[in-house]
Amino acid sequence: MNIETLCVHSPNEDKIAHAYGAMTVPIFQTATFSHPGVGESTGYDYSRQSNPTRTELEESISALEGAYDTVATSTGMAACLLVLELFNSGDNIISQEDIYGGSTRLFNTLGTERGRTFTYVDTTKKENVLNAINKNTKAIFIETPSNPTMLVTDIKETAKIAKEHGLLLIVDNTFLSPYFQNPIKLGADIVIHSGTKYIAGHNDTLAGFVCSANADIAEKIRFMYKTVGPSLSPFDSFLVLRGLKTLAVRMDRVQENALKIANFLKNHKKITNVYYVGLPEHPGYDINKSQSRGFGGMIAFTTDTAKTALDAFEKIEIIKYAESLGGVESLITFPMIQTHADVPVEVRERLGITDKFLRLSVGIENADDLIKDLERALE
Ligand SMILES: Cc1ncc(COP(=O)(O)O)c(C=O)c1O
Repeated sequence: MNIETLCVHSPNEDKIAHAYGAMTVPIFQTATFSHPGVGESTGYDYSRQSNPTRTELEESISALEGAYDTVATSTGMAACLLVLELFNSGDNIISQEDIYGGSTRLFNTLGTERGRTFTYVDTTKKENVLNAINKNTKAIFIETPSNPTMLVTDIKETAKIAKEHGLLLIVDNTFLSPYFQNPIKLGADIVIHSGTKYIAGHNDTLAGFVCSANADIAEKIRFMYKTVGPSLSPFDSFLVLRGLKTLAVRMDRVQENALKIANFLKNHKKITNVYYVGLPEHPGYDINKSQSRGFGGMIAFTTDTAKTALDAFEKIEIIKYAESLGGVESLITFPMIQTHADVPVEVRERLGITDKFLRLSVGIENADDLIKDLERALE
């Protein structure tokens, strides 16, 4: 089946026909399930562990990512925490400075407090990763394109390094979604998503996913999942499934809009830099093209002065000033004081996340309307 079809039809829909021929999965809003007899089960016992509405969603994501198994969590951060719990005190994880600020906060607080160490390098250069590996290193954690400066890391090459050194490669695939990129097919061991973003797609629910490439990882993740219980509720599972059905058309549309907007920004006199992996001059253009089917809808840009940036937030009308990304509505974010506020100042400055740096999540509105909105905001 092609990916557009997989977004609409869950892989097991023939096997688990819904009652009365219902087109969509019922919301099994139940905490527990009665057993047919002692020692018997319908396949479901308790919703912390599994629930039929959630199973349908998890199977769909596994099919889209090419994963062995997927668990759906209540948020993207819950998914990150679950993966972090695979590592023990003393273990080292190599990651990037440029990742979602919430992940940086997780690593630098709960992660390090429990004795795990993190080495941050620019993973776009293979030698940096190789040089960072030490005897305690257990994993490499990347985002590509990264949040928010859109660095592109070669997934296949990093997976090869990981395999050669017995490390796990973990990829946060939120920015491109499974529609455009499938890291497991390129050698990654674990894929994380903030399902809140493109997969759910409507800025109406939080969700997360951990996709495991093999049975061994899946077993460890499932055990922690049932033990800790970061489970996505049946209702939210339904909402995410509903969003998922239009993932392909939404991603095509946001990408089409993003390319037009990136070209508009590139030629605007008050814009000094545009970070969009769909522009051929982007340093990661070729690698991104070789490992994915698209460039997505995330753009970052810098303005000539801090005042231009502040004015833009005030003047914007259709595009909303809000955190988050990946929904049908276009959102503009000020990473320095929002998504990346907890990233140490010196790191932010090194990455260029300053008072002139803005991040735009392009939605599915009419591109001309969005460009007019930006034109007015940058006057
Ligand atoms: C790349 C990335 N990963 C993870 C997260 C965390 O996801 P959530 O907000 O669903 O907890 C975010 C949130 O913005 C993100 O951008």
